[in-house]
Amino acid sequence: MMTGLCNGWEFTQEWTEAFGRGEGTAEAVRLPHTAAEMPLHYGDHKAYQMVCGYRRTITADETMRSKRLFLQFDGAAHIATVYFNGTELATHRCGYTAFRVEITDHVRFGQENRIAVRLDTTENPEIPPFGYVIDYLTYGGLYREVWLDVRGQEMVSDVFVTTPDLTTVCVRVTADSECRVEILSETGEILDAQNTTEAAEFSIPDALPWSIDAPNRYLCRVTNRSSGDQVEVKFGFRTAEFKADGFYLNGEKTFLRGLNRHQCYPYVGYAAPEALQREDARILKYELGCTAVRTSHYPQSHYFIDECDRLGLLVFTEIPGWQHLGDEGWKEQACENVKEMVTQYRNHPSIILWGVRINESIDDDALYRRTNAIARSLDPSRATSGVRYLQKSSLLEDVYAYNDFSHTGSNAGAMAKKAVTPNKNKSYLISEHNGHMFPTKAFDPWQKRQEHALRHAKVLDAAVRSGEHAGCFGWCMFDYPTHKDFGSGDRVCYHGVMDAFRNPKLAAAVYASQKADTPVLEVGCPMDIGDYAGGNIGDIYVFTNAEEVCLYKNGNFVSKLVSHSPGVMKVEDTVGCLLETQESFSPKKAQLLRKCLVTLGKKGVIGLSPADYIRMGWAMVRYKITMDEAVQLYGKYIGNWGGEATVWRFDAQSKGEVVASATRCPSAALHLEVKASHTVLNEGCSYDIAAVRVRILDEFGNTASYAQLPVRFKLEGPARLVGPEIATAEGGMCGTYIRTTGIAGEVKLTVSTGQIPPVTVHFTVNA
Ligand code: GAL
Repeated sequence: MMTGLCNGWEFTQEWTEAFGRGEGTAEAVRLPHTAAEMPLHYGDHKAYQMVCGYRRTITADETMRSKRLFLQFDGAAHIATVYFNGTELATHRCGYTAFRVEITDHVRFGQENRIAVRLDTTENPEIPPFGYVIDYLTYGGLYREVWLDVRGQEMVSDVFVTTPDLTTVCVRVTADSECRVEILSETGEILDAQNTTEAAEFSIPDALPWSIDAPNRYLCRVTNRSSGDQVEVKFGFRTAEFKADGFYLNGEKTFLRGLNRHQCYPYVGYAAPEALQREDARILKYELGCTAVRTSHYPQSHYFIDECDRLGLLVFTEIPGWQHLGDEGWKEQACENVKEMVTQYRNHPSIILWGVRINESIDDDALYRRTNAIARSLDPSRATSGVRYLQKSSLLEDVYAYNDFSHTGSNAGAMAKKAVTPNKNKSYLISEHNGHMFPTKAFDPWQKRQEHALRHAKVLDAAVRSGEHAGCFGWCMFDYPTHKDFGSGDRVCYHGVMDAFRNPKLAAAVYASQKADTPVLEVGCPMDIGDYAGGNIGDIYVFTNAEEVCLYKNGNFVSKLVSHSPGVMKVEDTVGCLLETQESFSPKKAQLLRKCLVTLGKKGVIGLSPADYIRMGWAMVRYKITMDEAVQLYGKYIGNWGGEATVWRFDAQSKGEVVASATRCPSAALHLEVKASHTVLNEGCSYDIAAVRVRILDEFGNTASYAQLPVRFKLEGPARLVGPEIATAEGGMCGTYIRTTGIAGEVKLTVSTGQIPPVTVHFTVNA
């Protein structure tokens, strides 16, 4: 039985043996814990690097005397040495995988026992991912849960479940003696059972497959027949195959439309509890419409992966590393990391691919032969891969994963498979694109944000259309803090389709619009004249999953948008049929004048060609238009200067019905949108955190990206804010986190700015 040991720890930023012996007092902390809280911008990576210490006591009662006892550390960044009652028991050298320490022989029953952890949070070059520069912060701390696992003397030490086809389940058991293996439905009905000491195979003819749309799960329960020791594993009936032409889930070709996810959060770095981990999977699946995620560049929380299992989100996970390969000891640790990753994560149905190379490292056949062999022997059911920036590099894996940063805005979206991979018979995917090729802040000018979105759309479209890309993972889900060697000088990489709080930038709509079930309509530009040279509204793109979009000016129909690429539509001109409907010009006259006006708008007077001048001159003569009238038409339809503000409306239609509508015009009344990840917070084995996302919107629901106002968070009741009380709405967006304190009660969060009505959100804390 697992009992959480997340409360009652003491922490010191400076480990001493005296601290390990339990002397003195230190700061009381709860897990997940970060070695240092970091600011949103200009964070210094040295702040979290130290040799720190954690300690707490546990009492083992007499009933545990006949048991085997283990401590399980889910995430200790980065080198942890565990002492129990003063005896050094183990050192673990990876910040991204779990480890267990048996304490059975060291426990004093009926008394207090002291656990102490000496934790080296430095970026120690002896272990991956360290040794050279890294484009992300690596934080530090006991940042995931710690457990006491009380087990029977005769143990079930491991259970590995695979489904070779959609109705067969194979269970491999590692146990001290004979076990009962049961297969249960999610509601607890026993479907079949067998006794075994090592392997069992079941046929479940009525099994419902695990898929993206219906992620049905089953339970495998293994009970040691003599001790009752038990392990339960949730699994799904699914097959996952990478073939030359793509990825097949349950025999059906499925495009991996994904994003890369780091596991960091503002302020707390890696130390985010269960609810936040699950929330990211929900955002990827439902807000971003992804079918897949890459856990760049390390194994992530089981809560996150479990939520991917639960929601039907496919996962490409990999060992820690970033471009650099170290010495033999370092490589040995990389092999150990493959072993730990595969054995700890191999029962998750969502995981379809193991990354067994250091992200973007050079070829090292000796090392990668070993990592592939380890992964294949520990899990013959899954394909291996490894992410490269190299083309045609040595391919020891099943899938060639390539960071295709070739798109620069005007060229092809993606390279052809044959230009990149050395083996056309193996599968190919894009593991990253865009990212540093076009960093974009939520507070960048709209032109940049629109271009950012278009570039994501272009790569995605190219990969889907090629028919030979198994998938494509954009870089990346959200903006992340980084080292001084990367980012925008403030040590932030603005590569996300969302900001650090998971507020959407425009590019988020590119992903969201690939999904059919909820209407998506985002307009790429503000359409306010002051945002355009000469008041002349430029290229307008709309990101949508609707069949068609119609543009209206002050309520009058202008034109239907033209399709640009899947999910993207373009306004060809903002004059459309208005010259006919508003000026009552004949179709012929309207057509000629529209052409003149649009050309003038696009090129400006000095950019006009002789042919353009001739056309305009001819139009004026042919239709007896004076210079004054021409200037007026220009002002009204192109220059937009000197008239009343325009109201532009976009109606998205599917099957003849308006499914979504967006209005662009100067705002008269801003308001706050405050979205909490959840409002009932539960103190479970540790504290809970709710993520609160804040946007300043205009009356039509558009993010008011110039409302970069100070936002104040006022909290009342038994909870505390994580991060500052005042934040800046960057590009009109910001966020905060509400953390429970162990006390039950009602909590009130008031979000206010000076000039907009405040919003209050109520939370209930159960303890
Ligand atoms: C890649 C790298 C990522 C990130 C990205 C930015 O080279 O794998 O971690 O740095 O570039 O575009």
